Amino acid sequence: MKNTIATFQAQKDKGEKITMLTVYDYSTAKLMDQAGINGILVGDSLGMVVLGYEDTIPVTMQDMIHHTAAVCRGAKNALVVGDMPFMSYQVSVEQAVENAGRLMKEGGCQAVKLEGGAAVCPQIKAIVNASIPVMAHIGLTPQSVHSFGGFKVQGKSEQGAKKLLEEAKAVEEAGAFAVVLECVPAKLAELISKELTIPTIGIGAGAGCDGQILVYQDMLGMFSDFTPKFVRRFANVGDMMTEAFQTYIAQVQEGSFPAEEHTFAIADDVIKKLY
Ligand code: KIV
Repeated sequence: MKNTIATFQAQKDKGEKITMLTVYDYSTAKLMDQAGINGILVGDSLGMVVLGYEDTIPVTMQDMIHHTAAVCRGAKNALVVGDMPFMSYQVSVEQAVENAGRLMKEGGCQAVKLEGGAAVCPQIKAIVNASIPVMAHIGLTPQSVHSFGGFKVQGKSEQGAKKLLEEAKAVEEAGAFAVVLECVPAKLAELISKELTIPTIGIGAGAGCDGQILVYQDMLGMFSDFTPKFVRRFANVGDMMTEAFQTYIAQVQEGSFPAEEHTFAIADDVIKKLY
Protein backbone atom coordinates (compact mmCIF):
# COMPACT_ATOMS: atom_id res chain seq x y z
CA MET A 1 0.00 0.00 0.00
CA LYS A 2 1.30 3.46 -0.90
CA ASN A 3 2.46 5.53 2.06
CA THR A 4 1.06 9.05 2.05
CA ILE A 5 1.23 12.14 4.23
CA ALA A 6 -2.01 10.85 5.81
CA THR A 7 -0.42 7.50 6.70
CA PHE A 8 2.52 9.39 8.26
CA GLN A 9 0.08 11.35 10.43
CA ALA A 10 -1.85 8.19 11.34
CA GLN A 11 1.44 6.56 12.42
CA LYS A 12 2.19 9.48 14.74
CA ASP A 13 -1.34 9.41 16.13
CA LYS A 14 -1.07 5.67 16.84
CA GLY A 15 2.46 5.97 18.26
CA GLU A 16 3.97 3.85 15.44
CA LYS A 17 7.49 4.91 14.45
CA ILE A 18 7.96 6.25 10.90
CA THR A 19 10.96 4.85 9.01
CA MET A 20 12.79 6.89 6.38
CA LEU A 21 16.12 6.67 4.55
CA THR A 22 17.72 8.75 1.82
CA VAL A 23 18.15 7.24 -1.66
CA TYR A 24 19.35 8.62 -4.98
CA ASP A 25 18.95 5.83 -7.58
CA TYR A 26 16.43 3.35 -9.03
CA SER A 27 17.86 0.00 -7.91
CA THR A 28 18.53 1.03 -4.29
CA ALA A 29 15.08 2.65 -4.07
CA LYS A 30 13.53 -0.61 -5.28
CA LEU A 31 15.38 -2.67 -2.63
CA MET A 32 14.43 -0.26 0.13
CA ASP A 33 10.83 -0.15 -1.02
CA GLN A 34 10.67 -3.97 -1.03
CA ALA A 35 12.09 -3.96 2.51
CA GLY A 36 9.05 -1.94 3.60
CA ILE A 37 10.44 1.54 4.31
CA ASN A 38 7.69 4.15 4.92
CA GLY A 39 9.38 7.11 3.25
CA ILE A 40 12.32 7.91 1.03
CA LEU A 41 14.07 11.26 0.88
CA VAL A 42 16.00 12.09 -2.27
CA GLY A 43 18.23 14.32 -0.17
CA ASP A 44 20.51 17.04 -1.46
CA SER A 45 23.10 15.06 0.53
CA LEU A 46 23.56 13.44 -2.89
CA GLY A 47 25.95 16.34 -3.45
CA MET A 48 28.31 14.77 -0.92
CA VAL A 49 27.66 11.02 -1.05
CA VAL A 50 27.00 10.62 -4.78
CA LEU A 51 28.59 13.62 -6.52
CA GLY A 52 31.63 14.04 -4.25
CA TYR A 53 31.19 17.72 -3.30
CA GLU A 54 32.34 18.95 0.13
CA ASP A 55 28.85 20.12 1.07
CA THR A 56 25.34 20.38 -0.40
CA ILE A 57 25.69 23.96 -1.70
CA PRO A 58 26.54 23.15 -5.38
CA VAL A 59 23.54 20.81 -5.91
CA THR A 60 21.19 22.07 -8.65
CA MET A 61 17.49 21.67 -9.45
CA GLN A 62 18.53 19.59 -12.47
CA ASP A 63 20.51 17.20 -10.21
CA MET A 64 17.52 16.84 -7.89
CA ILE A 65 14.99 16.27 -10.68
CA HIS A 66 17.23 13.68 -12.37
CA HIS A 67 17.75 11.62 -9.19
CA THR A 68 14.19 12.07 -7.88
CA ALA A 69 12.78 10.69 -11.14
CA ALA A 70 15.10 7.64 -10.92
CA VAL A 71 14.06 6.96 -7.32
CA CYS A 72 10.35 7.35 -8.11
CA ARG A 73 10.64 4.70 -10.83
CA GLY A 74 11.88 2.25 -8.15
CA ALA A 75 9.71 3.19 -5.15
CA LYS A 76 6.18 1.91 -5.49
CA ASN A 77 5.02 2.04 -1.85
CA ALA A 78 7.28 4.50 -0.05
CA LEU A 79 6.32 8.18 0.13
CA VAL A 80 8.99 9.93 -1.95
CA VAL A 81 10.12 13.38 -0.79
CA GLY A 82 12.33 15.45 -3.10
CA ASP A 83 14.77 17.87 -1.46
CA MET A 84 14.86 21.47 -2.67
CA PRO A 85 18.49 22.48 -3.26
CA PHE A 86 20.24 25.64 -2.07
CA MET A 87 18.90 28.81 -3.74
CA SER A 88 15.91 27.07 -5.30
CA TYR A 89 13.48 28.53 -2.72
CA GLN A 90 15.29 31.29 -0.79
CA VAL A 91 15.11 34.09 -3.39
CA SER A 92 11.34 34.49 -3.60
CA VAL A 93 8.07 32.78 -2.76
CA GLU A 94 7.22 32.59 -6.49
CA GLN A 95 10.51 30.87 -7.30
CA ALA A 96 9.97 28.43 -4.42
CA VAL A 97 6.52 27.43 -5.72
CA GLU A 98 7.82 27.11 -9.28
CA ASN A 99 10.74 24.89 -8.25
CA ALA A 100 8.63 22.75 -5.88
CA GLY A 101 6.24 22.27 -8.79
CA ARG A 102 9.10 21.20 -11.08
CA LEU A 103 10.35 18.66 -8.53
CA MET A 104 6.90 17.13 -8.26
CA LYS A 105 5.98 17.36 -11.96
CA GLU A 106 9.32 16.39 -13.55
CA GLY A 107 10.73 14.31 -10.65
CA GLY A 108 7.48 12.55 -9.77
CA CYS A 109 7.78 12.85 -5.97
CA GLN A 110 4.78 13.17 -3.66
CA ALA A 111 6.24 15.91 -1.42
CA VAL A 112 9.18 18.31 -1.19
CA LYS A 113 11.49 19.23 1.69
CA LEU A 114 13.09 22.56 2.40
CA GLU A 115 15.39 23.80 5.14
CA GLY A 116 14.61 26.58 7.60
CA GLY A 117 12.11 27.79 10.17
CA ALA A 118 10.18 31.06 10.42
CA ALA A 119 12.21 32.62 7.59
CA VAL A 120 10.81 30.15 5.03
CA CYS A 121 7.24 29.98 6.36
CA PRO A 122 5.91 32.19 3.52
CA GLN A 123 7.43 29.68 1.07
CA ILE A 124 5.96 26.68 2.97
CA LYS A 125 2.47 28.29 2.99
CA ALA A 126 2.58 29.12 -0.71
CA ILE A 127 3.87 25.65 -1.75
CA VAL A 128 1.24 23.92 0.40
CA ASN A 129 -1.42 26.22 -1.14
CA ALA A 130 -0.27 24.95 -4.53
CA SER A 131 -1.21 21.42 -3.31
CA ILE A 132 2.39 20.29 -2.82
CA PRO A 133 3.01 18.71 0.60
CA VAL A 134 6.04 20.17 2.41
CA MET A 135 8.37 18.48 4.88
CA ALA A 136 10.23 21.13 6.89
CA HIS A 137 13.79 20.73 8.22
CA ILE A 138 15.18 22.58 11.26
CA GLY A 139 18.14 22.26 13.63
CA LEU A 140 21.36 21.67 11.74
CA THR A 141 20.35 22.65 8.23
CA PRO A 142 23.35 21.74 6.05
CA GLN A 143 22.65 24.43 3.40
CA SER A 144 23.44 26.99 6.16
CA VAL A 145 26.76 25.32 7.09
CA HIS A 146 28.71 28.53 6.43
CA SER A 147 26.38 30.62 8.63
CA PHE A 148 26.64 28.06 11.44
CA GLY A 149 30.44 27.94 11.07
CA GLY A 150 30.44 24.15 10.58
CA PHE A 151 28.25 21.09 11.12
CA LYS A 152 27.24 21.74 14.77
CA VAL A 153 24.52 20.52 17.15
CA GLN A 154 21.76 23.16 17.40
CA GLY A 155 19.53 24.25 20.30
CA LYS A 156 21.84 23.51 23.23
CA SER A 157 21.50 26.90 24.99
CA GLU A 158 18.25 28.11 26.58
CA GLN A 159 17.88 30.72 23.85
CA GLY A 160 18.73 28.23 21.11
CA ALA A 161 16.31 25.62 22.48
CA LYS A 162 13.47 28.19 22.71
CA LYS A 163 14.16 29.31 19.18
CA LEU A 164 14.04 25.74 17.85
CA LEU A 165 10.72 25.06 19.59
CA GLU A 166 9.34 28.28 18.07
CA GLU A 167 10.66 27.32 14.62
CA ALA A 168 9.01 23.90 14.91
CA LYS A 169 5.66 25.46 15.83
CA ALA A 170 6.02 28.01 13.02
CA VAL A 171 6.56 25.40 10.29
CA GLU A 172 3.63 23.36 11.60
CA GLU A 173 1.46 26.49 11.58
CA ALA A 174 2.64 27.24 8.01
CA GLY A 175 1.26 23.87 6.88
CA ALA A 176 4.23 21.46 6.84
CA PHE A 177 3.06 17.84 7.11
CA ALA A 178 6.23 16.75 8.99
CA VAL A 179 9.50 18.25 10.16
CA VAL A 180 13.04 16.86 10.15
CA LEU A 181 14.98 17.61 13.36
CA GLU A 182 18.71 17.33 12.61
CA CYS A 183 21.41 17.32 15.30
CA VAL A 184 19.11 18.46 18.10
CA PRO A 185 19.65 17.35 21.73
CA ALA A 186 17.49 14.27 22.39
CA LYS A 187 15.46 15.77 25.27
CA LEU A 188 14.64 18.88 23.24
CA ALA A 189 13.64 16.77 20.21
CA GLU A 190 11.36 14.69 22.45
CA LEU A 191 9.73 17.84 23.82
CA ILE A 192 9.23 19.27 20.31
CA SER A 193 7.73 15.93 19.20
CA LYS A 194 5.22 16.08 22.07
CA GLU A 195 4.34 19.73 21.43
CA LEU A 196 3.69 19.27 17.71
CA THR A 197 0.69 17.62 16.10
CA ILE A 198 2.66 16.75 12.93
CA PRO A 199 5.32 14.00 12.94
CA THR A 200 8.96 14.80 13.68
CA ILE A 201 11.61 12.82 11.79
CA GLY A 202 14.92 12.75 13.63
CA ILE A 203 18.49 12.46 12.46
CA GLY A 204 20.89 12.84 15.36
CA ALA A 205 17.89 13.84 17.52
CA GLY A 206 17.32 10.73 19.66
CA ALA A 207 14.61 8.10 19.95
CA GLY A 208 11.90 10.49 21.16
CA CYS A 209 11.12 11.63 17.60
CA ASP A 210 8.11 10.19 15.75
CA GLY A 211 10.35 8.75 13.05
CA GLN A 212 13.98 8.37 12.02
CA ILE A 213 16.01 9.03 8.88
CA LEU A 214 19.63 8.26 7.96
CA VAL A 215 21.71 8.72 4.84
CA TYR A 216 21.81 5.20 3.40
CA GLN A 217 25.52 5.18 2.55
CA ASP A 218 26.23 6.05 6.21
CA MET A 219 24.09 3.23 7.65
CA LEU A 220 25.55 0.71 5.18
CA GLY A 221 29.16 1.75 5.76
CA MET A 222 29.63 2.88 2.16
CA PHE A 223 30.84 6.43 2.84
CA SER A 224 34.00 6.82 4.87
CA ASP A 225 34.92 10.50 4.26
CA PHE A 226 33.09 11.42 7.47
CA THR A 227 30.82 9.45 9.83
CA PRO A 228 28.64 11.54 12.17
CA LYS A 229 28.28 10.46 15.84
CA PHE A 230 24.58 9.67 15.37
CA VAL A 231 25.11 7.00 12.69
CA ARG A 232 24.80 3.28 13.43
CA ARG A 233 26.31 0.94 10.84
CA PHE A 234 23.72 -1.71 10.03
CA ALA A 235 26.09 -3.48 7.58
CA ASN A 236 29.60 -3.09 6.22
CA VAL A 237 28.62 -2.96 2.57
CA GLY A 238 31.63 -0.77 1.72
CA ASP A 239 34.01 -3.57 2.83
CA MET A 240 31.95 -6.17 0.95
CA MET A 241 32.13 -4.04 -2.22
CA THR A 242 35.89 -3.55 -1.96
CA GLU A 243 36.37 -7.29 -1.46
CA ALA A 244 34.13 -8.11 -4.45
CA PHE A 245 35.96 -5.59 -6.69
CA GLN A 246 39.33 -7.11 -5.65
CA THR A 247 38.07 -10.65 -6.36
CA TYR A 248 36.80 -9.54 -9.79
CA ILE A 249 40.14 -7.91 -10.65
CA ALA A 250 42.05 -11.03 -9.57
CA GLN A 251 39.76 -13.44 -11.48
CA VAL A 252 39.90 -11.40 -14.69
CA GLN A 253 43.70 -11.17 -14.40
CA GLU A 254 44.16 -14.91 -13.79
CA GLY A 255 41.59 -15.83 -16.51
CA SER A 256 39.05 -17.62 -14.32
CA PHE A 257 36.35 -15.10 -15.23
CA PRO A 258 34.46 -15.25 -17.52
CA ALA A 259 33.96 -19.03 -17.33
CA GLU A 260 32.20 -21.32 -19.85
CA GLU A 261 28.75 -20.62 -18.34
CA HIS A 262 29.12 -16.87 -18.92
CA THR A 263 29.73 -17.20 -22.67
CA PHE A 264 27.53 -17.49 -25.79
CA ALA A 265 27.99 -20.48 -28.16
CA ILE A 266 28.45 -20.43 -31.94
CA ALA A 267 28.54 -23.47 -34.29
CA ASP A 268 32.11 -24.63 -35.11
CA ASP A 269 31.44 -24.67 -38.89
CA VAL A 270 30.55 -20.94 -38.76
CA ILE A 271 33.86 -20.20 -37.09
CA LYS A 272 35.78 -22.48 -39.53
CA LYS A 273 34.47 -20.43 -42.46
CA LEU A 274 36.07 -17.34 -41.03
CA TYR A 275 39.62 -18.80 -41.21
O1 KIV B 1 19.83 15.80 2.35
C1 KIV B 1 19.62 14.96 3.24
O2 KIV B 1 20.01 13.79 3.15
C2 KIV B 1 18.87 15.39 4.40
C3 KIV B 1 18.74 14.41 5.52
C4 KIV B 1 20.02 14.35 6.25
C5 KIV B 1 17.60 14.70 6.41
O3 KIV B 1 18.40 16.50 4.45
